[in-house]
Amino acid sequence: MPNQDSAVHVKMMPEFHRSSIQIKNLVKVEEIICGLIKGGAAELQIITDFDMTLSRFSYEGKRCPTCHYVIDNSKLVTDECWKKLLQLKEKYYAIEIDPVLTMEEKYSYMVEWYTKAHGLLVEQALPKAKLKEIVAESDVMLKEGYENFFDKLQQYGILVFIFSAGIGDILVEVIYQAGVYHPNVTVVSNFMDFDDNGVLKGLKGELIHVFNKHGALKNTEYFNRLKDNSNIILLGESQGDIRMADGVAKVENILKIGYLNDRVDELLEKHMDSYDIVLVKDESLDVTNSILQKIL
Ligand code: TMP
Ligand code: MG
Repeated sequence: MPNQDSAVHVKMMPEFHRSSIQIKNLVKVEEIICGLIKGGAAELQIITDFDMTLSRFSYEGKRCPTCHYVIDNSKLVTDECWKKLLQLKEKYYAIEIDPVLTMEEKYSYMVEWYTKAHGLLVEQALPKAKLKEIVAESDVMLKEGYENFFDKLQQYGILVFIFSAGIGDILVEVIYQAGVYHPNVTVVSNFMDFDDNGVLKGLKGELIHVFNKHGALKNTEYFNRLKDNSNIILLGESQGDIRMADGVAKVENILKIGYLNDRVDELLEKHMDSYDIVLVKDESLDVTNSILQKIL
């Protein structure tokens, strides 16, 4: 229990008054934040999803692209291929966010989606040299407040681990072009593998999809580096993101912040059971930034 001196009353923070914020257990949230404040910068690390968590779900009523969609919707992909990718997205995205199916039931569908989509992208012989251009021309946008978020974490030397089932090369280019690909940021994602002529020939390493983020990285070099950091702020949006920190050996306090972008009515309860703080249709990093402000 926090003592009087270190108690945090989130209701006194203006960001906690907005209607988009939903918290099941306020006392627990305040206790976790209190633990994060006590540990300070030295113990803190950030583990975050990318698509629809750091990037926007929509802007001015229009859907924003995922990393994959930045490629799918670009001039590098033929109309025929674009149509096929769109059909896949329609079928499998519905499964991804289905409120009834369990993660276990969705798992094999996700593998199917990724395998088919990546196969189609390889057929398009995508040139590495054009990736910068398609990111610059796309509608991908980071959430409001991203500069403050990344710059402050960089300033305090806090590790930011972006764990994404998107396409790593696109993700890195997005944050690079936004000026926030700082040295404290590590990206674990599906990175493209190019041949000697710079043409896509496949994806490197073990596939990361929406529902295998748990424990998949236990043995990676990155998790070894993290062993002394015991406080985590986890940012995600799907049920698959909740367990992104499973590979971290020593966790003292973990605050899970989850965006809820789609099928809100059906998913809200489940999200509130899984995440300490739920942000409904929130296109900003303001709540996280306000918590960082208290810690740093
Ligand atoms: P994330 O882990 O950073 O959220 O990235 C994964 C997202 O990418 C997930 O929501 C599904 C989405 N996706 C596409 O938009 N198109 C595709 O072709 C595939 C395979 C995934
Ligand atoms: Mg996501």
